[in-house]
Amino acid sequence: MVDDPSLARRLVDAIISDYPDHKADTRPVHTIGIGVKGHFIASPVAGNYTTANHFQGAEIPVTVRFSNGTGSPVERDSASDVRGMATRFHLPDGSDTDLIAMTLGEFFTRSTDEFLDLTRSAQPQPVQAEGWWQKMVDMLSFRLPLADPPPGDGKSGAAGLMHYAQRHQFAQRGILQAASIGAPVSYARATYHAVHTFILLDKNGVRRYVRFSWQPVAGVRNIDTHAPPVNQYLHEELRDRLSKWPARFILRMTIGDIGDALDDPTVPWPLQRVKVVMGTLYLTHVAQDQQADCEKLGFNPCRLTPGIEVSSDPILQARRGAYQESQSMRGATACPFHNEAS
Ligand code: HEM
Repeated sequence: MVDDPSLARRLVDAIISDYPDHKADTRPVHTIGIGVKGHFIASPVAGNYTTANHFQGAEIPVTVRFSNGTGSPVERDSASDVRGMATRFHLPDGSDTDLIAMTLGEFFTRSTDEFLDLTRSAQPQPVQAEGWWQKMVDMLSFRLPLADPPPGDGKSGAAGLMHYAQRHQFAQRGILQAASIGAPVSYARATYHAVHTFILLDKNGVRRYVRFSWQPVAGVRNIDTHAPPVNQYLHEELRDRLSKWPARFILRMTIGDIGDALDDPTVPWPLQRVKVVMGTLYLTHVAQDQQADCEKLGFNPCRLTPGIEVSSDPILQARRGAYQESQSMRGATACPFHNEAS
């Protein structure tokens, strides 16, 4: 397990350096978010795969934080950006376990050194929106045209990221998805992936390598890319949606097979892998106390519970320390590992 405090700090500092308008007491990425409440009910088959408490069928209360991916504190909901969905399951024994997911299927890098390198490439540089002619040239050269910089924003890391992708094949899947991802009409209308491989243990001690995704029951839908920019609509949309009816997500688990990338979050698994529905999430209302249930919460992808373990993915393992570091820097509540399973 990677537990290097100096690495954790370097990772957080590297992210912060990509967002010059970062505010000290906020998250360095996924800065703008909203906390919601609800519950999770495991499917009848989930308990066959793991002894983990939240997969045994009882109604499990949850706190979920949806977020925009950028580390800028300015809310630009209609901007093309990765979105996050961090779920905390409040278990019957009083402990918690987290599942952090985002709208990219694959991550950008395989190791922390590569990640530090990538953040250096993504340092914001002065940009001008590409004219239509340059966009045509890009397309004819099979390059993704650069997304227009947000209005009033003279700098962007997008060109540096594209340059990184051109030089590193492993990063292309993640970066090209991010470059063209768009903006959802609702946080409840996007698919979120936990990206890494986890290990499930069943009651006979059988270990399975798995990956998780949340599928929205309302379906996936983006806003029109040509619509005029709107800074804020996602929070209001969610409040309005949940006041009428719960938003639901299906937790889908894919089971890995021989030869699949178990420790590399840049590589997808073959489409024909066995998929299991592990349960349904019902989001019922926006949390009243957004300080406690959103701003000050500290999620961690390695906060697990008996019946589920981290794989040897070095990115997953490094996130444990990086999130702790970031949370102590921004004064988030509760030590992530007060109830961590070994
Ligand atoms: C080297 C890789 C990564 C590093 C260093 C990193 C770092 C961080 C940090 C420092 C935070 C803020 C934590 C806090 O203050 O509470 C954060 C938040 C977040 N990250 Fe990562 N991250 C990495 C990879 C990933 C991956 C692979 C995913 C995909 C599942 C992801 C999804 C998220 C989400 C959704 C949040 C917001 C969580 C919340 O709502 O509190 N990150 N990341």
